Amino acid sequence: MIKELLEERVFQPIKDFAPEEWDAVRKEYIDILCREEYGIPLPAPTKLEFEVKGANGRFAAATATHKTIVAHTEIYGTEFSFPFTSVIPNKPGKYPFFVHIDFEPGVPNKYYPAEEIINNGFAAFHFDFNDVTIDKNDMTDKLSGILFPDGERQGSDSGKIIMWAWAAMRIMDYAMTLDCLDFDNAAVIGHSRLGKTALVTGMLDTRFKYVISNDSGCSGASITRDKKGEHIEFITKTFPYWFCKNYTNYIDESKLTFDQHMLLATIAPRTLIVGSAELDEWADPDAEYLSCCAASKAWENLGLTGFVHPDRLPTPESVFADGNICYQIRHDGHYLSRRDWNVYFNIIKDKMMKNR
Ligand code: GCU
Repeated sequence: MIKELLEERVFQPIKDFAPEEWDAVRKEYIDILCREEYGIPLPAPTKLEFEVKGANGRFAAATATHKTIVAHTEIYGTEFSFPFTSVIPNKPGKYPFFVHIDFEPGVPNKYYPAEEIINNGFAAFHFDFNDVTIDKNDMTDKLSGILFPDGERQGSDSGKIIMWAWAAMRIMDYAMTLDCLDFDNAAVIGHSRLGKTALVTGMLDTRFKYVISNDSGCSGASITRDKKGEHIEFITKTFPYWFCKNYTNYIDESKLTFDQHMLLATIAPRTLIVGSAELDEWADPDAEYLSCCAASKAWENLGLTGFVHPDRLPTPESVFADGNICYQIRHDGHYLSRRDWNVYFNIIKDKMMKNR
């Protein structure tokens, strides 16, 4: 059944390649996704310093320290600073960790269960995406204003998703200055528009060994063609600033020469985790699942297990986590819930046990 659905929906299957050809194929996918959809990635900063602004060692019943840190960067000859936070267990160790691309600044907040993250044996970093550039159609704001002082963009000039991804990579730069982290188990996670951003971050930065997309939907994890809910026409009219201008060339989706399973494939050979919600028709759980099915070939061509799934569409409360692509779907609506986080904790802990 899945084979037939993929034949109907995926017009650009992952190509055959030998393992030694993967770097070149991966680069080809990244180039097309950047040129036609997200825009050109920003360069690494020419200067980068971190300033710890505050530390509270009594976080989560005094088991962890919460810090506020400011990244001072220089990009295109201009200084740009943004804040982020860390929560790290006080007990010495090497902790697996999350970089959470978030909607809000507070720790914890409704999308960010910092205490549960600590209790599950992880460290975590988070930032509010609006501190990098505001989630509005104003290209002159903060980081975006450095690139586009008059707000004007052309063709494949960067959109804001790729700018938020740049910020997540700077937090990984900071993480790498610490010796209490387990870099084999570093995850990037985001929900919805920030799930799209987490996938783009994972595409650009292989230091993230787990890439977690929660309900990212259209222009995130979902196959675009024939999906339910949101399509390129709506998303590029409502949120043009998330993408590059070229993406509007695909409002007629029959013109697509790429699709979102290629974005998922760029995560190979690392671990991709895709989460859906039953009632989230706008994102379309089936389209997220089919995209995982289509991306699987990238891992298989590398001699790895891709997506292990039944030969049918998913039903709520399923977790398919035997391969390097993991998929979960829960009941209820569009949200990054405590339940989602718990599934992600368990998947990563399980993989860590198996890799020991
Ligand atoms: C809108 C948008 C989606 C996006 C979502 C969100 O619904 O159309 O593409 O994922 O916002 O970020 O919450």
